[in-house]
Amino acid sequence: MSVTPKTASTLSQKFSRNPNSNLTLETNTKMAPKRVAIVTSSTRSPRLNPTITQYVYDVLTSDPTIPTSHSGTIDTDPRHITFEILDLAKQSLPLYDESVIPASLPAADPTPHYSKAHTRAWSEVVRQYDAFIFVTPQYNWSIPASLKNALDYLFFEWKGKPAGIVSYGGRGGGKAADHLRGILTGLRMSVVGTAPALPVKFTGLPVGALSEVEEKVQLDERDVAGWREAGFEGMMRNLGMELVCELDKE
Ligand SMILES: Cc1cc2nc3c(=O)[nH]c(=O)nc-3n(C[C@H](O)[C@H](O)[C@H](O)COP(=O)(O)O)c2cc1C
Repeated sequence: MSVTPKTASTLSQKFSRNPNSNLTLETNTKMAPKRVAIVTSSTRSPRLNPTITQYVYDVLTSDPTIPTSHSGTIDTDPRHITFEILDLAKQSLPLYDESVIPASLPAADPTPHYSKAHTRAWSEVVRQYDAFIFVTPQYNWSIPASLKNALDYLFFEWKGKPAGIVSYGGRGGGKAADHLRGILTGLRMSVVGTAPALPVKFTGLPVGALSEVEEKVQLDERDVAGWREAGFEGMMRNLGMELVCELDKE
């Protein structure tokens, strides 16, 4: 589905005019901007995921219709959000080894009840964010185990929060996106409809020994031009505005 910038702009107007929005009524109140994590989901090295995540970040933060809060400025507009990159490779989560069932813990404060220090640390990280955009490759028609693992560790930290999906792969990663949508729905997240699936045709998919290949792969301009032409950047902006609208309901 191709979504034009006009659609994002229409959503922006809807957002700013929403008469039921508590946020618009509080424009003079100091509130921290809502934090949206753009999650880098694969953990191998070398990998393409950090490059695609950065591309998603750049598209979203350069869109004037999305009320992005820029770091380093004093910002009191309560509609504003910040986008931050959250890399699962930096979380050092082992293969799931938590002895308690996350959904059985006290909903208001599950963190101290986990049995493992790494789960408590991961719980603290995820609790800081109000919404998530999962940027995931397709591995064998699904998502990487690293992402499923990170999701399984927690429950109430995800529950009720808005989520978006951007997938990529040789054919766009739509099957990974479909699986992920099911998993996030099971975690009771509000998954927005727009889910760009980026076909990677020209960018060199990283293979090779760790020491011989740089971690960060450069995007081939032909891929970027193709995504733009096919409307994927418009879809990303639309995804961002759908998240903003979901956050506005809170
Ligand atoms: C284990 C594995 C399975 C893959 N399965 C698929 C697949 O089902 N469909 C697809 O289009 N690409 C598939 N690929 C290609 C990946 O989409 C591509 O290698 C991409 O760069 C992986 O993201 P990463 O570099 O961030 O790990 C697979 C790659 C790996 C490593």
